[in-house]
Amino acid sequence: MKIEKVGVVGAGLMGSGIAEVAAKAGFDVVVREIDDASADRGRGRIEASMDRAVEKEKLSAEERDAALERIAFTTKVEAIADRDLVIEAIVENLDAKNELFGALDELCSDRAIFASNTSSLTITDMAAATDRPDRVIGLHFFNPVPVMRLVEVVRTIATSDETFEAVVDFARAVGREPIAAKDNSGFVVNLLLVPYMLDAVRQLERGVASIEDIDTGMVLGCGHPMGPFTLADFVGNDTILRIAEIMFDEYREQRYAPPPLLRRMVSMGRHGRKAGRGFYDYSGDEPVPIPV
Ligand code: 3HC
Repeated sequence: MKIEKVGVVGAGLMGSGIAEVAAKAGFDVVVREIDDASADRGRGRIEASMDRAVEKEKLSAEERDAALERIAFTTKVEAIADRDLVIEAIVENLDAKNELFGALDELCSDRAIFASNTSSLTITDMAAATDRPDRVIGLHFFNPVPVMRLVEVVRTIATSDETFEAVVDFARAVGREPIAAKDNSGFVVNLLLVPYMLDAVRQLERGVASIEDIDTGMVLGCGHPMGPFTLADFVGNDTILRIAEIMFDEYREQRYAPPPLLRRMVSMGRHGRKAGRGFYDYSGDEPVPIPV
């Protein structure tokens, strides 16, 4: 099955990145958001990212303009009825995702494939809410999508080989390197990455070292592009808490349990870079660690 028309539902950080890489690769993309203001924010995010790519000489101005032309924004779910592949990147809420896939199941052709960019919910639960479980799959991109080359392709016990192969081909066509993962909470990367960040918070709680020194340790000692607290702020502490809760619920293992400090930070609205405050304060030119 050949994928030509792509629908992306949700134009947040992940959805806009997915729409961007698909349009740059030549796909016809329709992005659906709940209202005009959210759609405008998504468009702005894509334009800013493409402008940055032009600045960095990764993309020509002509390629940017052509890619932007290939993306249409809509607030109507009916506008994605003709898509071959629909990728959802809405809130991490199973009821919301099931409701969306239920509506799409009625609207889209029987051949259409539904993919979820969920980072921790179960693809099987979403597949079971449709009449096409063989055509439901996970397609988990990484932030920032235009830069990170990995995509996890997550099959359930019901996903067909045809669906899997079509989605792997799509992932390669948009310049990503696919890896296959089973439908276990956390897939491959978050299963290893989230406990690492939770452990950094636990070490901070124990007073092992400062935020800055733990970050510097992992950057200079291990060659990571960001230390664990810079990364947590980048991903979003609220997102990490949510993923940790879902993984702890699934595995009941201590390493997935969210540490109290992370909960307190989220309660205080210290969600990370997007909120202007997390482990660091982002209000100035340079991030400044906030003592905890
Ligand atoms: N389009 C294309 N390329 C772009 C771009 C864009 N919009 N913006 C930047 N780039 C390219 C740059 O040209 C540069 O490429 P080069 O090395 O070939 O010159 C490269 O990306 C890095 O860009 P910058 O120099 O501007 O930025 P940094 O060097 O500071 O890197 C970073 C920023 C890529 C975010 C890096 O710090 C990094 O890799 N951090 C770790 C990110 C990470 O771990 N992400 C995964 C999070 S987990 C997740 O997403 C899963 C979820 O479920 C929680």
